[in-house]
Amino acid sequence: MTNLLGVIKSSTQAVVFSVQIAVALVVLVTGCGSSDVEERHDSGSPVAQTTDAVGQAENETQPDFADLRDLDPALSKSEREIIERFALLTSQKKATTFRSNKWLGILNLQYPTDAWIIQEMIFEIKPDFIVETGTYHGGSAAMWAMLLEQVNPKGRVITIDIRDRGEEARKLPIVRERVDFVLGSSTDPKIVADVVERVKGTRVMVILDSNHTREHVLAELAAYAPLVPVGSYVIVQDTGGIMMQKPNPGPRQAVDEFLKSHPEFKPDRSRERMLLTMHPKGYLRRIF
Ligand SMILES: C[S@@+](CC[C@H](N)C(=O)[O-])C[C@H]1O[C@@H](n2cnc3c(N)ncnc32)[C@H](O)[C@@H]1O
Repeated sequence: MTNLLGVIKSSTQAVVFSVQIAVALVVLVTGCGSSDVEERHDSGSPVAQTTDAVGQAENETQPDFADLRDLDPALSKSEREIIERFALLTSQKKATTFRSNKWLGILNLQYPTDAWIIQEMIFEIKPDFIVETGTYHGGSAAMWAMLLEQVNPKGRVITIDIRDRGEEARKLPIVRERVDFVLGSSTDPKIVADVVERVKGTRVMVILDSNHTREHVLAELAAYAPLVPVGSYVIVQDTGGIMMQKPNPGPRQAVDEFLKSHPEFKPDRSRERMLLTMHPKGYLRRIF
């Protein structure tokens, strides 16, 4: 009898164990864990909103949606859909995703895939100066400075902002050594003249990431694009991609306008190869 009870007990345990394994496998294969189910049933959840918005994007009567992202036309419809879904998720979770990113402990708003691409460009071009408009806390300037240190012993960053939030960044030795902070508007004629004077005759790369209105970006392009030699770039940031461009009209319209009268610059869409970019059509290469 004791033996019989023992056999029943161990058989029951084996059945329970098998059922547990089977449930675990279903969860693994389908991805339907309980938290995921809760999220899908929450109308305010990223997944729920993403699905709705992608539905809208497919609707021909909503042309501004995908258009504002200005994704590479070479992408297929299904590739665009995946990017759209991820873009919405990124927008909804931006506070805890890229907006919380830090470089050497300093807030840095560069999206990681774009930062990687810019790293490759800095290695290729080895600029003497990177002129950055929009310092924020200085995390991006610190990143460019570290890269420059490796590729060009003379390389420096000039970063311009109307607000000084760089106190923490300036405690970093690399920032003290290689970053010049300029306080004021990037389109202030005195500031432009000062920057032009400083970088004259050197290899310059420009990154525009300050006020994102169309007019301001156009004024920045007029001021700083002429500093860029053939083979180097002006990177107009936040033209769309995985973040919907804000404001609208903004950097993308500035790029379109600028290109009409500046055939010497061409958007280098190969820099969008990581698919997730905030600067579609914004990597402007000087070709002559
Ligand atoms: C997007 S943040 C820059 C982010 C920074 N490049 C990074 O990746 O961490 C934009 C910055 O532009 C600055 N800004 C706004 N208007 C400006 C102007 N007219 N000239 C220079 N900077 C400006 C803001 O104060 C803000 O710090």
